Amino acid sequence: MPSYVVAGASRGIGLEFVAHLAAKGNQVFALARNPDQSKGLQELKGKPGITILKADITDPVSLRAAAAQVAKATGGGLDVLINNAAYVSHKYEFLQIDEFQTDQELIDDFKLSFDTNVLGPVLTTNIFIPLLLKGNLKKVLTLSTGIADAAFVLKAEYPYSPAYCVSKTGVEMANVKYAIKYKKDGLVFLAISPGVVNTAEEAPTPEVMAKLQEMGAAFQKVAPHFKGPITPAESVNAMLAVLDRATVKDSGSFVSHLGTREWL
Ligand SMILES: NC(=O)c1ccc[n+]([C@@H]2O[C@H](COP(=O)([O-])OP(=O)(O)OC[C@H]3O[C@@H](n4cnc5c(N)ncnc54)[C@H](OP(=O)(O)O)[C@@H]3O)[C@@H](O)[C@H]2O)c1
Repeated sequence: MPSYVVAGASRGIGLEFVAHLAAKGNQVFALARNPDQSKGLQELKGKPGITILKADITDPVSLRAAAAQVAKATGGGLDVLINNAAYVSHKYEFLQIDEFQTDQELIDDFKLSFDTNVLGPVLTTNIFIPLLLKGNLKKVLTLSTGIADAAFVLKAEYPYSPAYCVSKTGVEMANVKYAIKYKKDGLVFLAISPGVVNTAEEAPTPEVMAKLQEMGAAFQKVAPHFKGPITPAESVNAMLAVLDRATVKDSGSFVSHLGTREWL
C-alpha cells in the first residue's frame, strides 16, 4: 500500500488528508508539533494505517527523527510527501503591508511566515528526499495559495496578509528548484492551492466576518461564480485527484485544486 507523510496534520486540511488517505487503505504518517493537543489526531489514534509522529517543520532534529521512524516502518521508502503546515497570523491577517503598529510586529510576522512557510517545507522536503527516491510514486505536494499568484492578487486588488502571501510565493520558487534538480530521478513536485476552505474552529467575530466578506467581494471581481468556501473534504478530494494525475512533465508547476490556474 502506498505510503504518505502529511506534515502539519493536527487540524484543518492536514487532518482531513490523514483521515481521507487512511480510509482509502494507504499507510499514513501524520506529523504534528503537538499531537497530544490535537483532538482530531487523538480521535484517529489507533485507526488502521495511521502512525502519529511528533515533528515541528522548523526543527530539523525532530524532522530527522520522524523520517527515521518512517523509514523503519516502510523499509526505507516513502511514496508521497504532503507539505501542508503553514503559519497564518490571525492578529495581522487583515493588515496591509505598511499598517503594522510597530516595526517589530512586521519583522516578527514576516520572519515567522518565512520560517514556517518557506524554510519549513524546504527542510521537510530535504530530509524526506532520500526516502522519496526509494519510493514508488515519488511525489511531493506543497500547499500554497491563490493569493500568492501575483496576477490574481493584482486583478482582485486583494491588499491583506502581506507576510503570508510573500512567503507562499517563496515556497513556489522552492518547488521549481526541486523540480529542476530531481526531474532526472522521476520525482514530481507540485505546488497547489486548496481553494478557499473553511477550516475555522470557531465562528468568526463580526469584525472578521466583515473582512471575509470584503475578501469574497475582491475574489468575485476575478471569479464572479465564487460563492464562498468549500469543505476540507471537498478540497482534499480535488487535490488528490490532481496529484494522482500529475506526472514528471507537470513537475514544478503551481496549480489549483481544479488542476488549473483558476483559483476559485
Ligand atoms: N484554508 C484555506 O482556505 C487555505 C487557502 C489557501 C491555502 N491554504 C493552505 O493550506 C494549508 C492548510 O491550511 P489550513 O486552513 O488547514 O491551515 P490551519 O487550519 O491554520 O492549520 C495549519 C496547520 O499547520 C500546522 N503547523 C503550523 N506551524 C507548524 C510547525 N512549525 N510545525 C508543524 N506543524 C505546523 C498547524 O499545527 P498546530 O495545530 O500545531 O498549530 C496546523 O496543523 C496551509 O499550507 C495553508 O496555507 C489554506
